[in-house]
Amino acid sequence: APVPGPDLSTCGPPNLPNGVQPTDCCPPYTSTVVDFKLPSPTEQLRVRPAAHLVDADYLAMYKKAVELMKALPDDDPRSFKQQANVHCAYCNGAYDQLGFPGLELDVHNSWLFFPFHRFYLYFNERILRKLICNDTFALPFWNWDAPGGMQIPSIYTDTSSPLYDNLRNANYQPPALLSLDFSGTKPPAQQIQNNLQVMKREMITGGTTAQLFLGAAYRAGDQPDPGAGTVERESHSSVHWLTGDPTHRHEDMGAFYSAGRDPIFFAHHGNIDRLWYLWRGLGSTHQDFTDPDWLNSTFLFYDENAQLVRVRVQDCLDTDALRYTYQDVDIPWNNVTA
Ligand code: C2O
Repeated sequence: APVPGPDLSTCGPPNLPNGVQPTDCCPPYTSTVVDFKLPSPTEQLRVRPAAHLVDADYLAMYKKAVELMKALPDDDPRSFKQQANVHCAYCNGAYDQLGFPGLELDVHNSWLFFPFHRFYLYFNERILRKLICNDTFALPFWNWDAPGGMQIPSIYTDTSSPLYDNLRNANYQPPALLSLDFSGTKPPAQQIQNNLQVMKREMITGGTTAQLFLGAAYRAGDQPDPGAGTVERESHSSVHWLTGDPTHRHEDMGAFYSAGRDPIFFAHHGNIDRLWYLWRGLGSTHQDFTDPDWLNSTFLFYDENAQLVRVRVQDCLDTDALRYTYQDVDIPWNNVTA
């Protein structure tokens, strides 16, 4: 049977790393839940841009949206703080699986990884859009799979911006290039080549099936963490780890409980989501699972009207139907020799 999602009424203290400030990451409680409906097909299709390519108008709009989100009261489920806590609650054992008391729910290292984060961004983006009353707004993606995006995008490094976070790695400030496989810094040309080979392996040569790419099956009653797919395990985790501050337990980005506190998290996961979107076009065996246990897995999210919504994995498989797409940029890892 599918993982039945959480029960908000049993949300409890998360398991936190040693030494961190105790945190309650449970959302505000409500007993009213509605089932997700796709947006109207007449809603305009928004294009998520590459973060390193956006213009001044886009940046002003994005900063304003995050500023307004940060200004919402902490107990509003749409506030920046509550949005960050969503990650903590679903990843650090604040929830048990519904019907399995004591069995932790964790959306990572399994086939729930991509769909959970797709919905998380979907609702976060709709909240930001509503706050600025701008119907065109879409989150940016951190295009770290291409040379121009392999460093922290400059829109996140201005210390006076709402997009800034001070818990970041001083060693990976621009122009330092990230490593996508934890292998440490190499001379730039070599680092780029290595990163492109990592991407080719994750996306093409090593990601030939749903299980290899999306992760291992995770069903009702299973222990968490059955196994991650290629992208989750390697480039995804490497970017989290290297972005977080190594003098501070790799917070914010490098720890599950705090990752959502850095606005760059949403651009990082924009790229993860884009890689899933691209993967399906890269080979005849690159097909999503058809297993009903995957398709019927559910999560709960608050939407832009502070309404709690129950979503099913099957509702997020078509980004067009969710009314967004990605800026079409070069795919430099496609023909690299690995
Ligand atoms: Cu929920 Cu990038 O991890």
